[in-house]
Amino acid sequence: MYNPFSLSSKTILVTGASSGIGKATAIECSKMGATIIMTARNEERLQETMQLLEGEGHQYIITDLTNEDAIKQLTEQVPELDGVVCAAGISMLKPIQVLAEKDIKTIFDTNYNAPVLLTKTLVKKRKLNTEASLVYISSISGNGNTATALSLYGSSKSALNSFVKYAAIELSGKRIRCNTICPGRIETKLLQNQTMNEEDLAKDLAKYPLHRYGMPEEVAQAAVYLLSDAAKWITGTSITIDGGRTLI
Ligand SMILES: NC(=O)c1ccc[n+]([C@@H]2O[C@H](COP(=O)([O-])OP(=O)(O)OC[C@H]3O[C@@H](n4cnc5c(N)ncnc54)[C@H](OP(=O)(O)O)[C@@H]3O)[C@@H](O)[C@H]2O)c1
Repeated sequence: MYNPFSLSSKTILVTGASSGIGKATAIECSKMGATIIMTARNEERLQETMQLLEGEGHQYIITDLTNEDAIKQLTEQVPELDGVVCAAGISMLKPIQVLAEKDIKTIFDTNYNAPVLLTKTLVKKRKLNTEASLVYISSISGNGNTATALSLYGSSKSALNSFVKYAAIELSGKRIRCNTICPGRIETKLLQNQTMNEEDLAKDLAKYPLHRYGMPEEVAQAAVYLLSDAAKWITGTSITIDGGRTLI
């Protein structure tokens, strides 16, 4: 049956697959026929995701992506890939005046260094097939101020957006495509960890023209599109998924 969005016969690596957007991406990609290699640190939650995947042949590899040796080991273990979704990430709400050097390291190690080093290692070890698609989960916070005290998170995502544009050119020789997805607030653990009182929550929700936050599946489905042959002339760009938040 004609389906340009199919991922059948594609092998996709998904980071951050133990929770939220990465978990939903692994599930949606499996529904579209892909074989999934998942990674994260928490084995129990990776096993939970594994139970929800459709089809067979999937696997998970436990990795702390802030450790370059662990990235190298992950790369040794994965087969040749047709796609990668870098969804692992952390957030931090902290006013500038109380930022510490270790906060910068913590955020950048996970949100910037990890996807950059993973890309580098996969390229160096020739694990990316011709026409592979690399999808990086960034954020609307990387394109402008979306909330107070989010400077480190926002700047880590800005840096990632910039890296992806350079990678798109450098990897184009092998027709490897690199794109970002910039979501607004999505209902995941990352959001629950940010303590907002009810009044602030109502004010924040009012900034969303579609009157709600997004669901992880709604980001995952954009990742499916970018991974699929339907997007094979799309590189170096970004898809914003934010219910209209950045229009206001
Ligand atoms: N939720 C939102 O509102 C929102 C909006 C815009 C962008 N995003 C971006 O979307 C991505 C996914 O976020 P989410 O909302 O799905 O968050 P989440 O539910 O908290 O999931 C984060 C994932 O990252 C993994 N992870 C964190 N640190 C890691 C490390 N050192 N090594 C390996 N894996 C690590 C976690 O796995 P383990 O703990 O098992 O290692 C988990 O699977 C992030 O990049 C985030 O910045 C989220």
